[in-house]
Amino acid sequence: MATQSSHNQWYPVALISELKSDKPLARTILGEDIVVWRSGHKICAWKDLCIHRGVRLSLGTVCNNRIRCAYHGWEYNSKGQCELIPAHPNLKIPTKARASAIYRTHEYAGLIWVNLSEEPKTFPKLDQFSDNNYRVVPGGPYEIDAAAPRVVENFLDLSHVPILHDGSIGDSNFAEMSDYTIEDRPEGFFATDIRYYQPDPDGSGSSGDVWYDFGILAPFTVYFVKHIGSRQGAEKFVLMFAVRPESADKSWAYMVPAYNYAADLTEQQINEFHSYIFGQDRPVVESQRPELLPMDLSKELHLRSDQMTLRYRRYLKAIDMDFGVS
Ligand code: FES
Ligand SMILES: [Fe+2]
Repeated sequence: MATQSSHNQWYPVALISELKSDKPLARTILGEDIVVWRSGHKICAWKDLCIHRGVRLSLGTVCNNRIRCAYHGWEYNSKGQCELIPAHPNLKIPTKARASAIYRTHEYAGLIWVNLSEEPKTFPKLDQFSDNNYRVVPGGPYEIDAAAPRVVENFLDLSHVPILHDGSIGDSNFAEMSDYTIEDRPEGFFATDIRYYQPDPDGSGSSGDVWYDFGILAPFTVYFVKHIGSRQGAEKFVLMFAVRPESADKSWAYMVPAYNYAADLTEQQINEFHSYIFGQDRPVVESQRPELLPMDLSKELHLRSDQMTLRYRRYLKAIDMDFGVS
């Protein structure tokens, strides 16, 4: 059973472009099956269940701004109320004939987000996504058979980059990690001045140093800002990494990069590159044992180069996370 620490967070359920006007989507968050559908400009997310005989509403269709159950054709409006029962067209429809749970939705950074809670946490936002100098290119989802905290921790794991991603975003000849600073922030923590040598940091073909900052927006939504050329480099690349925990052993990751350069890169090139990098991470993260991220720090070995992932575990412990951890 999910506790508040995971239950009241916002989770990405789809790219906005994935949700068509006539077809609902089936998604699962923390074991809860939901249907996501579009009624005109409004995006609805409900418990994926028709009150009549418990069929999944996501098997149905959308027409006239209503969702229509595939089994007996009951039609529900965007407020969740049933407005048509084909077997009894003249019946006064019982008020109980309505969606059994309606959740909050939000569109942001090219993604549809859902919150299962009555008391939602602050929505995770990044300044660059509302800055016209940045191009935002939402991508994903990337399916992975692993617990969300393991998946997020991999994004925050710095010393694997030159090894696992040798030749793309890292170089194994430059694997030594220099020190960096981590400070507390109200939303978690923020790490600065993480220096890497990269074979091709900006896609121009020439190698060089880059500086990263990493931050937390929510337990399973994190980001980095990459400064290219110098610590204050004018070229910046921001990447939000947001994970939807489907169950304790399955997650879906979305990557939303924003660039203030590389206008010539196509969305397809960007998404293919991220798929390639995630494809290198996937088998490694899926192999990790125990599957659930250990909160007992003595279960694994932590070195100085692991200080950010260690900090992430402490943060999860501090907020009483009990989903995907052991
Ligand atoms: S189960 Fe949905 S209309 Fe009967
Ligand atoms: Fe990686």
